[in-house]
Amino acid sequence: MRIICIGGGPAGLYFAALMKKADPAHDVTVIERNRPDDTFGFGVVFSDATLERFAQADRETHDEIVRAFAHWDDIDIHYQGTVVTSTGHGFAGMSRQRLLDILQRRCAHLAVKLEFQTEVRDLAPYADADLILAGDGVNSTIRARYAERFGRRIEWWPNRFVWLGTTCPFPAFTFIFKEDVHGLWRVHAYRYDARYSTFILETTDATWRRAGLDEASEDDTVAFTEELFADELKGHPVLKNRSLWRNFPVVRNERWSHGNVVLVGDAAHTAHFSVGSGTKLAMEDAIALSRALERHPDVPAALAAYEAERRPEVESLQRAAQVSLEWFETTERYQRLEPIQFAMSLLTRSLRVTHENLKVRDPRFVATVDRWFAEGAVRQSGVPLPAAPAPPPPMFTPFRLRDLVLSNRIVVSPMCQYSAEDGTPNDWHLVHLGSRAAGGAALIVAEMTDVSREGRISPGCTGMYKPGHVDAWRRIVDFVHRHTGARIALQLAHAGRKGSTRRMWEGIDEPLPEGNWPLVSASPLPYFPHSQVPREMTRGDMDLVRDQFVQAARMAEVAGFDMLELHMAHGYLLASFISPLTNLRTDAYGGLLELRMRYPLEVFDAVRTAWPAGKPISVKISATDWAPGGTTADDAVRIAARLRAHGCDAVTVSTGQTVPHQKPVYGRLYQAPFSDRIRHEAGIPTMTVGNLSTYADANSILAAGRADLCVLARGHLYDPYWTRHAAREQDYDLPWPDQYESVKSYTPRAR
Ligand SMILES: Cc1cc2nc3c(=O)[nH]c(=O)nc-3n(C[C@H](O)[C@H](O)[C@H](O)COP(=O)(O)OP(=O)(O)OC[C@H]3O[C@@H](n4cnc5c(N)ncnc54)[C@H](O)[C@@H]3O)c2cc1C
Ligand SMILES: Cc1cc2nc3c(=O)[nH]c(=O)nc-3n(C[C@H](O)[C@H](O)[C@H](O)COP(=O)(O)O)c2cc1C
Repeated sequence: MRIICIGGGPAGLYFAALMKKADPAHDVTVIERNRPDDTFGFGVVFSDATLERFAQADRETHDEIVRAFAHWDDIDIHYQGTVVTSTGHGFAGMSRQRLLDILQRRCAHLAVKLEFQTEVRDLAPYADADLILAGDGVNSTIRARYAERFGRRIEWWPNRFVWLGTTCPFPAFTFIFKEDVHGLWRVHAYRYDARYSTFILETTDATWRRAGLDEASEDDTVAFTEELFADELKGHPVLKNRSLWRNFPVVRNERWSHGNVVLVGDAAHTAHFSVGSGTKLAMEDAIALSRALERHPDVPAALAAYEAERRPEVESLQRAAQVSLEWFETTERYQRLEPIQFAMSLLTRSLRVTHENLKVRDPRFVATVDRWFAEGAVRQSGVPLPAAPAPPPPMFTPFRLRDLVLSNRIVVSPMCQYSAEDGTPNDWHLVHLGSRAAGGAALIVAEMTDVSREGRISPGCTGMYKPGHVDAWRRIVDFVHRHTGARIALQLAHAGRKGSTRRMWEGIDEPLPEGNWPLVSASPLPYFPHSQVPREMTRGDMDLVRDQFVQAARMAEVAGFDMLELHMAHGYLLASFISPLTNLRTDAYGGLLELRMRYPLEVFDAVRTAWPAGKPISVKISATDWAPGGTTADDAVRIAARLRAHGCDAVTVSTGQTVPHQKPVYGRLYQAPFSDRIRHEAGIPTMTVGNLSTYADANSILAAGRADLCVLARGHLYDPYWTRHAAREQDYDLPWPDQYESVKSYTPRAR
């Protein structure tokens, strides 16, 4: 096979070596525009898991790489004049030049042809090749040439960064966050051999310009960096090597091959440098592609197999890298955090490393975090913690909302049961909510309960609009209060244009086949094209519905509820005013966000006035519509800030369900980043919900300050005792009800 590798970076060289090793009969040429020792950049890092893959692919290069390593376990975080250290991270760094030397020598040994100082502009001279590897890096010429065929997408991020070096041998992977008159600077620094460290300096575009670095030469950048970080560098010089300020491009391609041309490494995909995985991905691509070619002698089949194998792994890492990238793009947001929580936020930024992982790596660090968190919770709630040798996990600390004190941070999300008759909850609701209250969560939010018969989603929805509802709800509230330590909230709503539909299991959001009732909404837009067209609310309708909310709140008080949640999410009536996709009004309640918020805030104010001052009200919002032209995370911050200004106590951060053509990006904890942002930028407590299913995630989110309460919906349908089980797994003593005392000596063995 005749193989041309364009680009002598880690991907091109490693692939060439692996192919030649697999079959010396292959004719393999690497074409590189630079000279052999002419590399940019300083060090690269690999994790232990990556090294294992290298060992299996080619023992010779692996052994040389390992010999060249500088190992470290600690991460030092310099922030607000302190250094927080976390240990047990097990990474290794080496010089990029050294890595390329090793790969070049291995190629030469295996008789790969290496052509330096040759720039490839056109593929015509290689028409006779069986395979062309485009390993020509992030600015790939080959990718650009066939951009449409590959379905290339490049997203440039605004932060500026520059790749520098220094002779300062940082003892740990070192993050420095330093503020000067221009703004906040971030440094990512790590030692890569006995004498040198990589030193990447990053900041926002505005800070960079304020510092005049937009006009700086390389020497100016070096001088600026040496001065700003004189203390941390301890007199060591900063080194340059084509150290130009850049923006980070997130590169994606819908297809990684076209004919016999295949993309690998940075040409195919990038992952932000803060997760230190670009070289690893490039070399793992090379391994996967060489193996696919061994298995499938037919090139197109091999390229398809390579992409099928690699794409899920690459995309998963790109997702983690993206969250990390965004953390560094917006670090200013976290500047109010105390150093220990800032460190926790940084270490768990990609949401992959959890409180639990950190506990294994560095139990002392996690104990410090937990103690700090528990002390804050005691101050915030005014509730002392029981005496114990160790601080409780964050999820088992109290939280106060007005006079309501929750004993822990776990909440049962409201979930429609579609099992009521004319709005009246029954035995099903008693057992459903009662068993979850017995299950250990501190707060149970009863399902979306509608303020009028016409405000229901379906004929099975619960309501709070007729006298009998108060007694029916009181029976449930009394059970929760009498028999469990939980508190109970009611979620009040009006379904708006999503009303008069079938029960979930009969066809969600689908209109009733018969017995429909008329709908109202912000604008006369049906949900589906075949849905009923709602009437645009008149001022008279608005008065009526507002008063119905107030009436329902008063009834909820009589029924004994501890808290209210107003439902302004998921496209229901109040949400329909907030989203520009469902509010096309031209009167005082449509147009700019401030105007679209007017009616929902009017309802909020009226309910707030009617509801006892000591009892809290939360509001559930859709932080994004996941649809073009809809609300975005920026809007969500403004929405939350408005709610806060009106006395809202917490925002439950959900997303979407506004329009059927939404394109949500699901995944573990997929809504937590919105909660994080709202909590820090709008300065309001948040309740995060959405694919949160492990106690490790709950503890991480709380400890890092991404939310104040963790809300589980389906997790609680599956396991009403989720909180008790989480306590047991963590050896935390959460008292069982007296009736279940015997469980203490029982060992569960479901498997
Ligand atoms: C600031 C920064 C820090 C980073 N830190 C790390 C880290 O710690 N760990 C890590 O794993 N990764 C890191 N990376 C990423 C890493 O550098 C890349 O992901 C990795 O080098 C990709 O390898 P590659 O072989 O695909 O591309 P490259 O290493 O970019 O190699 C491409 C090669 O192709 C050559 N070339 C380009 N065009 C042509 C042409 N037309 N003709 C001939 N030759 C051509 C180039 O000269 C180059 O040698 C970092 C990146 C940046 C920007
Ligand atoms: C059966 C069911 C019913 C739901 N009903 C409601 C509801 O009444 N009010 C509400 O705000 N969200 C409702 N949701 C959404 C959940 O409260 C929650 O926001 C969503 O399921 C994501 O959380 P999870 O990943 O933990 O399930 C419902 C979800 C389910 C699965």
